[in-house]
Amino acid sequence: MFDVGRIRADFPILHEAINGHPLAYLDNAASYQHPRTVIEAISRYYEHDHANVHRGVHTLSHRATEAQERGREAARRLLNARSVREIVFTRGTTEAINLVAATLGQSLRPGDEILISHMEHHSNIVPWQLVCERSSARLVVVPINDRGEILLDEYHRLLSERTRLVAMAHVSNALGTVNPVAAIVAAARQRNIPVLLDGAQAVAHQRVDVRALDCDFYAFSGHKMCGPTGIGVLYGREEWLQRLPPYQGGGDMILSVSFSGTVYNELPYRFEAGTPHVAGAVGLGAAIEYLEAVGLERIEHYEAGLLAYATEAIGAVSGVRIIGQAAHKAGVVSFTVDGIHPHDLGTVLDHQGVAIRTGHHCAMPVMERFGLAGTARASFAFYNTTAEIDRLVAALAVARRMLQP
Ligand code: ALA
Repeated sequence: MFDVGRIRADFPILHEAINGHPLAYLDNAASYQHPRTVIEAISRYYEHDHANVHRGVHTLSHRATEAQERGREAARRLLNARSVREIVFTRGTTEAINLVAATLGQSLRPGDEILISHMEHHSNIVPWQLVCERSSARLVVVPINDRGEILLDEYHRLLSERTRLVAMAHVSNALGTVNPVAAIVAAARQRNIPVLLDGAQAVAHQRVDVRALDCDFYAFSGHKMCGPTGIGVLYGREEWLQRLPPYQGGGDMILSVSFSGTVYNELPYRFEAGTPHVAGAVGLGAAIEYLEAVGLERIEHYEAGLLAYATEAIGAVSGVRIIGQAAHKAGVVSFTVDGIHPHDLGTVLDHQGVAIRTGHHCAMPVMERFGLAGTARASFAFYNTTAEIDRLVAALAVARRMLQP
């Protein structure tokens, strides 16, 4: 039995009043809220265990190191990676993708190609544009259809001996499309082409198994799964991480340094220069433990119900057009309302305590694909309710009365 009332009681912020109304927080694709266990784990860490990691012989340094490595082990479990050597802490998905672009990108030559899709977030476009500019490699884009699904035939056609990497979203933040990543990875692996999956919008919504997916890299952010901002993970298949050159230089990523040369540290520390975000790793670990306790299969099932309910309820509002109608979607409903600018809509909804995101959602090419400057987007987490969706729909009616010409 999925007891959403009990789950909501774990999240202090969900009981805030916003502009005199109870909060209906429907902006989870941008950032999740935090259960008390995550907030307490971070504050316990600062109250009892904080010091720098991997450096000192003293007790607190050991405790901090253990706390960080517990977060790493939780991330390994979450993704079912073979080893913690494959779990690199980063600032988030964006830095994880930039890490791969900056390191794997060094071997790109003129004429090489990076294959992405038309529905990528800017963080899975711009890092590749930067390396392509430096190397004269080409960024090749797989088109999508009007429902917001990748055209798999085109994907197969565009994969070639020039492709050096496939980098795709597991789930689209702007449309909610769940991409057929197993088929995408299988086709690339047949040609020995590595695949990076942007899992920012996937990990909190379904069970992700990097071994079953057989991908080479998988990136996600703590704050999109009940954890803190400023921490994320790059999973890298060990053979790949061993082959990549270092990312940033500094403390902790070395075994020894002299002016005649430096010996780099073992995995994963080789990619973690400088003092890490230890409290972030602690919070991330607590967030993963929370998701595990709720159960990712149960979360996926519950959110599928919310999505179906929201799609019908929002779609029934006169003047609404839902953008992104893929057969397989996660809990995102992107939409426009005739005659109302999304930002105006978002402001009127906020006055009624309903939080959604409006704009291009850091995915301008996908907006352009649908001929739009932006959309309004409601995005759901397992702590949302159908009553909150009803609040959104009621607030839309108010906005239409106020704003429609
Ligand atoms: N990528 C985040 C979003 O979709 C910020 O809102």
